[in-house]
Amino acid sequence: MPKILVVNGPNLNLLGKREPEVYGTQSLDELNRSLGDLASELKVELKFFQSNSEAELIDFIQTEGFEADGLIINPGAFTHYSYALRDAIAAVDIEAVEVHLSNLYAREEFRQKSVIAGVCTGYLAGFGFYSYAMALSYFADTSGGE
Ligand code: DQA
Repeated sequence: MPKILVVNGPNLNLLGKREPEVYGTQSLDELNRSLGDLASELKVELKFFQSNSEAELIDFIQTEGFEADGLIINPGAFTHYSYALRDAIAAVDIEAVEVHLSNLYAREEFRQKSVIAGVCTGYLAGFGFYSYAMALSYFADTSGGE
């Protein structure tokens, strides 16, 4: 069974409460539960992680990244400036998909640049939960795993 990491960055622990008009009313636990249900159907194993700390996100990727078959990552605001997070993804040589709940091109200009996308296979933004679900279905179809 392919093993996929699902990583959420800063402030995503506040989903449901945080700017619901932008990010929706679903909590991160609810989002992860729905993703977990989809993963069972698709026969994919998921490991979830969220942190507000850049260092913890990097440590998690370093620890888990070599063993996993893929990474679905919503880096939150680190998307726009964390070269260290980008380097961590490149360092463990894992296939990654960057996801966002909101459509960054419909928002402020500073959100319209990702320093992470260049080390990812692709990028999904603007579909809320479905950004994650589409990334998962990509990995379910393409990752071998055992
Ligand atoms: C976000 C978009 C980022 O610009 C923002 O900082 C977030 C959430 C999204 O999922 O739409 O925290 O990554």
